[in-house]
Amino acid sequence: MLVLGIESSCDETGIALYDTQAGLLADALHSQIALHEAYGGVVPELASRDHVRRIVPLIYQTLQQANRTLTQLDAIAYTAGPGLAGALLVGASVAESLALALKIPALGVHHLEGHLLSPLLGDAPPAFPFVALLVSGGHSQFMAVRGIGQYQLLGETVDDAAGEAFDKTAQLLGLSYPGGPALSRLAENGNPERFALPRPMLQSGDLNLSFSGLKTAVSLLVKSHQPGDYPDIAASFEAAIADVLCHKALQALETTGMACLVVAGGVGANRRLRAQLTAQLEKQGASVAFPPLRLCTDNGAMIAYAGALHLKQRPGLARSAGAFTIYPRWNLQDYTRAV
Ligand code: KG4
Ligand code: ZN
Repeated sequence: MLVLGIESSCDETGIALYDTQAGLLADALHSQIALHEAYGGVVPELASRDHVRRIVPLIYQTLQQANRTLTQLDAIAYTAGPGLAGALLVGASVAESLALALKIPALGVHHLEGHLLSPLLGDAPPAFPFVALLVSGGHSQFMAVRGIGQYQLLGETVDDAAGEAFDKTAQLLGLSYPGGPALSRLAENGNPERFALPRPMLQSGDLNLSFSGLKTAVSLLVKSHQPGDYPDIAASFEAAIADVLCHKALQALETTGMACLVVAGGVGANRRLRAQLTAQLEKQGASVAFPPLRLCTDNGAMIAYAGALHLKQRPGLARSAGAFTIYPRWNLQDYTRAV
């Protein structure tokens, strides 16, 4: 079964072709970073218009890369939410109309499900059940994953998402959007022990997270220090986030009795977090799985893959009727199947 995946929930147009026999055949991505950089964040209307411009050429590019044609597609999976409404509408309308024309099924996929299943696209895919740590620009949560569509929320951020904290802190340090990777690069030359930043919610007894206080602590440091100190501030900030996430990850494994953690979402690309989680979990006899680095941030491959797994479970899915809904706000724990 050949599935075309379309991701357009935010500032990346991602297209991929996944074959249930042969695996990932091709994927292409257009990032809008340059488009939004001057504004310090994503401008929704600009994002939608850019998806409109990029999506069809990227679909053809992906097909060509895999040496396939439109008529060979068996289904189309697209991100139906959560995300920016206008951006989601572009992917959904292209997917549904193409599927209608080709007389094949179209399947709306939850963006976070795409992220949390993306480590299964790696070379050593983890087996169910596992705890997923989803850390992206909009979400930070622990989920117990017992199978496809079986997701139980264990805890989540009560304020900023981890990626949001990285982005806002990076802005305080004068770094450009998106801040996460830039802050991480700055931190490489810094001393993570120089500033004792708070470890929020460490003793809360639950699996919730909080990052807004950390950002406030950094803003105070920035006021009383010089740019030459910024690498140390960045490293200390990164260390605080990694400490909290490691501590809570171990707690999540203990609470659920599971032995495997799967990390997904853009912040999962952070090298310090990856190294620390790997070392600390291994010490406890648990394992940790990450998506391949390039699949940590938004991409079409994770959507094609999640769609293919749902289609395998529901082989009788009807072909597109042309009508569809998008879900800009959508909880993964309310979600039992693709729409
Ligand atoms: O999953 P993602 O691509 O998009 C969302 O669905 O939000 O995550 C984007 C977030 C941004 O906040 C970005 O700054 C952060 O992931 N990010 C990182 C790194 N790479 C991306 N944060 C820390 N370290 C990184 N290396
Ligand atoms: Zn994402």
